[in-house]
Amino acid sequence: MHVVLVGMMGSGKSTVGKRVAARLDRPFVDADHDLEQSLGRSIADVFATEGEAWFREEEARHLTRLLGAPTPQVVAAGGGVVLRPESRERLRRHDVTVVWLRAEPAFLASRAEAKPHRPLLAEGGSALEVFERMDAERRALYEEVADVTIDVRPFHAEEAKPKAAMADAIARQVVAREQALEGSPP
Ligand code: S3P
Repeated sequence: MHVVLVGMMGSGKSTVGKRVAARLDRPFVDADHDLEQSLGRSIADVFATEGEAWFREEEARHLTRLLGAPTPQVVAAGGGVVLRPESRERLRRHDVTVVWLRAEPAFLASRAEAKPHRPLLAEGGSALEVFERMDAERRALYEEVADVTIDVRPFHAEEAKPKAAMADAIARQVVAREQALEGSPP
């Protein structure tokens, strides 16, 4: 069964996803990076030349392709993947476990780096404003698709190695869910 990590930019999807994949012994795919490879262009370039709507369409198609792979894998999705209804519908199906890394805007603003693949962070306004706007738009959408929700902040407050500890917690919950689904009638 595939595992997809969703959540806002900077919540830790890629770093934690890599570790979850190692623990579950499944391949890891960074969806943004993989999409850039398959388009032969950077996300920044796509946003600048084609615009966000075009990117969202490609992102949705790409998610469908990734989840069509026969080998179960761990996917770190781009933060905005939940914006398209067809992607939310795909994520709600039972052949995938969706893990939401939930974090508050202030926490994200204090941590998320303005990387080249994050043009939305470079738009006007402070990082906090960007995250607050996104949070208002997306929180319910992440909630709608999530099978497992992990609150990110307590791990950072309480654990010496927060991302490793998060990965342990996620891997445990994924395995428990998959076992429960296997044991239940179709
Ligand atoms: C986006 C998040 C980015 C990338 C793009 C748009 C978003 O991915 O897909 O810049 O809308 O939240 P990360 O969440 O991996 O940074």
